[in-house]
Amino acid sequence: PLPKPFTVPLPIPPVKKPIRTDGATDYYEIVQREATAEILPGLKTKIFGYDGVFPGPTIEARSGRKISVRHRNDLPVPTAVHLHGGHTPAEHDGSAIDLCLPNDGWKPSVGHDGEPAMLGKLTTGERSYVYPSDQRAATLWYHDHRMDFTAPQVYRGLAGFHLVRDDEEGALSLPSGSREIPLMITDRSFDADGTFLYPSSDASLRGEPGIAGAYMEGLLGDVVLVNGAPWPVLEVDSARYRFRLLNASNARRYRLMLNAGGKNVPFVQIGSDGGLLAQPSERTSIDLAAGERFDVVVDFSSFAVGTEVTLTNGFGEAPGTVNVMRFRVAKKVRDDARVPARLSTVETLDPAKAVRTREWKFQRGNVGDHKGWRINQRSYDPRRVDADPKLGEIEIWRFVSDLHHPVHVHLDPFQVVSRRGKGPGDLDAGWKDTVDVKPTEIVDVAVRFSDYTGPYLMHCHNLEHEDMAMMATFQTT
Ligand code: C2O
Ligand code: CU
Repeated sequence: PLPKPFTVPLPIPPVKKPIRTDGATDYYEIVQREATAEILPGLKTKIFGYDGVFPGPTIEARSGRKISVRHRNDLPVPTAVHLHGGHTPAEHDGSAIDLCLPNDGWKPSVGHDGEPAMLGKLTTGERSYVYPSDQRAATLWYHDHRMDFTAPQVYRGLAGFHLVRDDEEGALSLPSGSREIPLMITDRSFDADGTFLYPSSDASLRGEPGIAGAYMEGLLGDVVLVNGAPWPVLEVDSARYRFRLLNASNARRYRLMLNAGGKNVPFVQIGSDGGLLAQPSERTSIDLAAGERFDVVVDFSSFAVGTEVTLTNGFGEAPGTVNVMRFRVAKKVRDDARVPARLSTVETLDPAKAVRTREWKFQRGNVGDHKGWRINQRSYDPRRVDADPKLGEIEIWRFVSDLHHPVHVHLDPFQVVSRRGKGPGDLDAGWKDTVDVKPTEIVDVAVRFSDYTGPYLMHCHNLEHEDMAMMATFQTT
């Protein structure tokens, strides 16, 4: 039994407190464990949760201040925690093969295609990730990244927010406190008893990786969850609110729109994956591919008490995926927040200064009888390096696509230079780390890696595609 839309209150993920701090570092501890959550009223859903909750607790970092997160793995499966959008040294990047094994002694024997499963840097039972936070304010998120099993493990709940704040942003008087809300949007399907439905080849996630063939294009659920609740409702004041939109779905794309009484309510976009834009821009709708973030302000100040503002998905195929959530104006207040005309200084990477262009073709592949997804005709092999960009050099990376592939690059953000030979689209503004490449599109981005050498990943963020080997390694030198 599904609830009526817009009846379950919006949950706000708990903000994690450090267990200690010293002059340079804040220390956190998170336990990855199985738990049950009441997602559909009256039913219990088994989840994998950071601290046993979905979404996981929010980590709030200060730019320039180091963070150390010790994860204990009490799950029955190996994990890898990746900080998506983090400017992170390679050994702490939560790469797909750098596993934290479960503490019951179980070890994977072989990986995909029969290669050794344990090629990376391994730990057992716990693992500490250290983040320098040497980056500007932005909405990051952390999630599981285990090779071949990212999709089912994120689906079961392993995802949370990690916000970086800085003084520049703090000085802007943007909506804050209870009027600054992260919104993690996901889709899920449920069995009649509340169990998450995910058609893994082996539900223990200790055997054969993969998903039933019919879902190879990506798993779409039929219920939209925001912060883990189905089509929730939030009571708001008649004021401006800042929402950090994150699409943490495995495969679904959303066209988000707001309307009140049949009239469009605009979003004012203030930031993208990599932090604030130079100036705010009004958007009537926002297309959000898996992995992307948009930082927006919505102004409820002109609405009467009782007004309902509904967030919908123009790409939904049924009411369960058209409805997202609702805001109900509950109180008239005075509002001192504002959105200044200038938000930040955003450096432009000059594509004319690029030292080379690398082409990355994202395509379905059938190599022999092997089905999957390929980049440049190759499936992911952690023993192979596919590119060796030099730190400090600007490169053009050209993403060529057969179908929809949200392309994500680790270590540093990039800027969209062109789509289909034209300039970037409105929604491509600012620093991005994930770009929605549409069917038969060619998207050029300018990228410049900095500070850390090592192997890093780039991949499709449709998690089923990622697990089916649409991933590559680049080695910064
Ligand atoms: Cu959000 Cu490589 O991942
Ligand atoms: Cu893809």
